[in-house]
Order: sequence, then structure tokens, then C-alpha cells
Amino acid sequence: MSSQDPWWSQAVIYQIYPRSFFDSNGDGEGDLAGIALKIEYLKSLGIDAIWLSPFYKSPNKDGGYDVSDPRMVDPRFGSLADFGRLVDLCHENSLRVIVDLVPNHFSSEHRWFQEAIAAEAGSPARQRFHFRDPNSDGSPPNNWISLFGGSTWSKAPDGQFYLHLFDQSQPDLNWENPEVAADFEETLRFWLDRGVDGFRIDVAHGLVKEEIEKDHYAPELLSDALRLDIEMEPARRSEILATVPFFNRPGVHEIYRTWRRIFDSYDRDVVSVAEIWVHPPEEAALYVRPDELNQVFNFDLLTTPFEADALFESISGAFSILEPVGALPTWALSNHDSPRVASRLGVSQSQALAIFLLALPGSFYLYNGQELSLPDGDVLDSDRQDPVYFRTQGLQKGRDGARVPLPWSADEVNCGFSTARPWLPIAESWRELSVEAQEKDSASSLHLFRRALSIRQALVDSGSNIAWIESQSAEILAFTRGDFLVLLNTSREDQDFASDGSIYMASNEMTSADGSTIYLPPLSSCWVTRAK
Ligand code: NOJ
Repeated sequence: MSSQDPWWSQAVIYQIYPRSFFDSNGDGEGDLAGIALKIEYLKSLGIDAIWLSPFYKSPNKDGGYDVSDPRMVDPRFGSLADFGRLVDLCHENSLRVIVDLVPNHFSSEHRWFQEAIAAEAGSPARQRFHFRDPNSDGSPPNNWISLFGGSTWSKAPDGQFYLHLFDQSQPDLNWENPEVAADFEETLRFWLDRGVDGFRIDVAHGLVKEEIEKDHYAPELLSDALRLDIEMEPARRSEILATVPFFNRPGVHEIYRTWRRIFDSYDRDVVSVAEIWVHPPEEAALYVRPDELNQVFNFDLLTTPFEADALFESISGAFSILEPVGALPTWALSNHDSPRVASRLGVSQSQALAIFLLALPGSFYLYNGQELSLPDGDVLDSDRQDPVYFRTQGLQKGRDGARVPLPWSADEVNCGFSTARPWLPIAESWRELSVEAQEKDSASSLHLFRRALSIRQALVDSGSNIAWIESQSAEILAFTRGDFLVLLNTSREDQDFASDGSIYMASNEMTSADGSTIYLPPLSSCWVTRAK
């Protein structure tokens, strides 16, 4: 990394889902003070920053992505003072802090929506959201489908409908109303003035809606749209998302230009990372033009199979999409919305792929618990909380499996997460996956990630250019970056790779080199240092 590059350009950013990280006050839910208590652990990982999923005031109908006061900490997570202490502690420990911003919608418990419901049709209070009269037959204004299943429209008590792309408790904001823009600018400044180093922007592609008066889905698309979710075959998902009139409208970019001016008015490098789902994928580059945001999430790898061809397509595609604007990709294998990668691909595969991606230029988002190679938790239907489960009448199980709290201890009650019953129960079998158990085992996933993160800077320092190497086997991916050679063996067989050099880092400790050949165990990756 050159000294001119901003801190985030090749950072490792650790996503914390606050409700599931660590409970300091024995109520079964994680909190901000709990995160502060684990500062030594966070520091020991070798990460550059933490990203906190929402901790704002919220009735918690969608894991806090239903915000009822964006400038207030929900009492379940603590107070503004706790937040201030956490930010200071992170900064004292050289960790930056990114917070979530949820601009597409508010909670229906937000004061504005309460005012809107109480107000008359057409009133200024209603114009902060998207209210419409029903069709003459009483049906909703159009046939749009919520991303969580069901209609995007729900009825207010007076019979008007309001739009919600997600749950009915998440009314969409009307970004054509200058009051909405002004309120978010105040929110950005509020958190920046409290020391945050950046924002992750929720549904960043969705703020501007067009053609609200019109039906969108043709009947043959409607049944698929009904189950539009992350598990859907990616090509089909893209096809459906290609044309929806509520995503990726040109008007969103003006919003980000305004925000960028706010970020740039602070005397530190503020990072902004956008959650976007756009089609065609090349349009992602528009969000990271020099006067807009800094990063876009690249979600492609969340669904890519562990096959050399598919991984090559995805990784090289991520670079070429952003090349026109000179931005680097972000890499992520797990988050709070998708199945944990250890469950989706298998533990060895997930570790091999993470180590491989960590060697690439760009920044890496590590989801809490991924360093432990946690699988998805088994969640009983009676414990489920995700609105996706309820809105699809149980057809989709939802995202709770990836949100089960972290196991800290091998022998304490509830794996040391909380003295009370955790909001989603932790399996007894997770004791052996706990931080405590993995600390004691030098071959553990935790030690693997720590090792990789502690020496990754050498790769970052060797520049942002990589060269793919035609490999001897169709199941091996190989590239060079400076003096490093990086290999991934996607096959279930041992593989040999002819090269000089010695092993610098490997996902599997059986990896070896004899000066002319690298010996790769099945489902493994390694970083090789070669003679200059
Ligand atoms: C994306 C968030 O990551 C997800 O958890 C949430 O349900 C939706 N946006 C709606 O805010």
C-alpha cells in the first residue's frame, strides 16, 4: 500500500452483529459494553476496523434494520455514553469504527411514521413516505413484491396504502422530499461528530423509486419474485432485479455526491461502503466514482460454488467491474444475511478460500464468528425471529441461523455468551468451537485467521497488481502478486504445483515445498514467497 492510499483501501473489517457478540448485563442479548469488554480479543485478531450492525433505537422487527430513532442507542444495547466509550477504546487500540446507516426506510414506530398515520391523505406528514390510494377495486396501488415476501403495500387505518420494500414495519422513505435528505445529513454528522470512521449504507441502491403508479411484474415473473431471496439462482435473481423500478435508479447518485461532500468536510478519511444489488453488475462502478462512495460490497462470492472456474470468473469479474473507476473490490464470504460460509461450502473450503482472498488486493470483510469457522446455528422454528420466515409463511427459514450468538467459553453456561438464555440458543456442541477452546489449539481456525492477518501486510505492500497464472491443473487457481505466488486447490486430491519458493502461509499445515514443487493438500490454499 502506498502511503497515499486511504486506510480502508486494503483493510480487514470485522462485522459485529451486536445482539450476538457478547452480553455484558445478563439479559441474553449482546450489547455495546459487551463489545468493549472484548477489546483485547478484537485487537488480537489483527483487524483494522469494526463495522457495527445497527444498535439504534428500534422495535427490532428486522434485527435493528427497522430504526425508530437513528440518533439514539437502543437501551437493549446501552447508551450514547457506552457508544462513546467503545469508540474511544477502539481508537486507543488502533481500531476504526464503521456504523450502519439505514436510509431506505424507518421503523413504523419512528415519530415521523406515527405522525403520518395520524395525519390526512396528502398531508406533509404523509409525504415523507410513499402513501397512495387503493385502486378502484380496493387492491394495492401496484403488484410489487416485498423482498421479504408478500406485497410491498400495507394499509393505514384510513384505507390508504404505504410502500415498504421490506417488512410492513419498515415504511420506505420518500427521498424526493427534502426533509428526508436533511434528516439523514443530520444523522451522518451526528455520528461523525461522535468519532465514527465510516458508514455501511443499507440498501444503497434502493432509495429512489420510479413509476410507483404502475404494476411491474408480468404474471410469469410474479411467482419467482415471490421467493426472491439470496438463495435464488444468481442469474435468475439478476434477471428479476434487472428491471425493478425501485432499484438502481440514476437519482440515487446525487444523494451520494451530497454525502461525499459531508464526509470530505471532516479532517479524517471517512469510509463509505454501499450495500448494492445491481444489474448489470458493471453498474456497481457508478457508486464508487471519485465524488461518490468508496466501496461497494461484492456479494457474488456468497453464492459462488467452490469450483476453480466459477471462482476465477467471480474474482476476475470483481476486478474488471471496478477497473473503469480505479476502485478495488471488497471480499466477503459471510454476513448476517446469508448462510455462514463454513456451512455452505465446508470448513476446509471456507478457510482455503478466505486465505486465498486475503492475498488479493482490496479489503476483506470478516463476519463475526467466521474466524472460528462457525457453522449456521440450528434454530427451532419456535425461536425464529427473522421477518422473512413469517412473511413467507415459513417457506423460507430466514437468516437466524447466521445470527446465533458467539461461543466464548468451553465450560461456562451458554458458552460464556450470557448468563441468561441467549436470544437464540447456542448448541452445546459449540463449546469445542468456542474462543477459549480455539485459543488453546494452535491448529484452530482462530489461529489460522490470526496468522494470516498478522502477516498479510507483506502482500499489501507488494502492490495492487496481480497476474493470473495458467495452472497445470484445472482445479488450481494461481496468481502472483509481487514476489508472492498464491495458490488455491479446489479439488479433493493432493496436487503438485511446479514452482520454487517457500510456504509463507497455508490454510492446511500439511502444505509443503521442496524448492521446485509446492505440495497442496485437498481443499487448501497457500501464499508462497519466491526468490527474487
Ligand atoms: C439489508 C440488511 O443487511 C438486512 O439485514 C435488512 O433486512 C435489509 N437490508 C433491510 O434493511
